[in-house]
Amino acid sequence: EDESVLVPRPPVVCVMGHVDHGKTSLLDAIRDAHVTDREAGGITQHIGAYGVSINGQRITFLDTPGHEAFTAMRMRGANSTDIAVLVVAADDGVMPQTIEAINHAKAAGVEIIVAINKIDKPSANVDRVKQELSEYELIPEDWGGSTVFVPVSAKTHEGIDNLLEMILLTAEVLELKANPKRHARGLVLEAKLDKGKGPVANILVQKGTLHVGDYIAAGACSGKVRAMMDENSRRLKEAGPSTPVEVLGLNDVPNAGEILVATETDKEAKNFAATFVSEGKNRLLEDTKAKMSLDDLF
Ligand code: GTP
Ligand code: NA
Ligand code: MG
Repeated sequence: EDESVLVPRPPVVCVMGHVDHGKTSLLDAIRDAHVTDREAGGITQHIGAYGVSINGQRITFLDTPGHEAFTAMRMRGANSTDIAVLVVAADDGVMPQTIEAINHAKAAGVEIIVAINKIDKPSANVDRVKQELSEYELIPEDWGGSTVFVPVSAKTHEGIDNLLEMILLTAEVLELKANPKRHARGLVLEAKLDKGKGPVANILVQKGTLHVGDYIAAGACSGKVRAMMDENSRRLKEAGPSTPVEVLGLNDVPNAGEILVATETDKEAKNFAATFVSEGKNRLLEDTKAKMSLDDLF
């Protein structure tokens, strides 16, 4: 892509780790929200996407489930992200999904920042967590390694400013950019059929800007953006790179992990969906009938 059209975009940060180590609680603390209170059984079962603004700098967070049943979501989270925040409870230490998360993040080639959570607990043992993670090549800087470790408490909010600072510093080094002035391309984080609204797709816009009125295709579905909402149900007219949005207007429910593209015409959107159905995802990438280059798409 032509460098001159690229402008800085917010980092997409995926929060990963073992079940109940405090991922959602940390994001609640950062956002001053109470998502954990509303979760059935206190278990996150989907990918939540939230935009926050820290001293004028935006960060997009993806919250992922830690329960062992949700491997595919963790993988999707890791693959759509710039930075992974690995949450490890200081009283529990490295557990099976901690290791799984490390593997997903490494496979996706994303930078890992370790948040050692629950340091308010009397049974917290920060050094033990550092020791355990060293076995997975995550060595803290104060032990001669290069991984950023931040002790935090979602309960007392200790260390959270430091964690945000480390995320912004890491993002700065990555020099993340995207072209906002092109047809949007995004990722379906999740989607469902809503009785009142019809198909609802939660999209992470990755390139370009998605507008109300744009023709779109996602997997085998197509349509036109009828309305867009942010995570607080505020209506948006447009959504630029790294923005998570709820999109209404697809003719059916796409699958999580599928690509959303905005097209010039209704016909192109329908062609995308038809090609997806007849030839499968990979062929779509190689042999798209719409007038876009592969790089435009990905
Ligand atoms: P899943 O999404 O289900 O994997 O869990 P999670 O990692 O999002 O953990 P969640 O935020 O649901 O927190 C699990 C439990 O740990 C809850 O009871 C929280 O109140 C508690 N908890 C989270 N962070 C802290 C912390 O810093 N200190 C203490 N004492 N408890 C915490
Ligand atoms: Na939980
Ligand atoms: Mg959670």
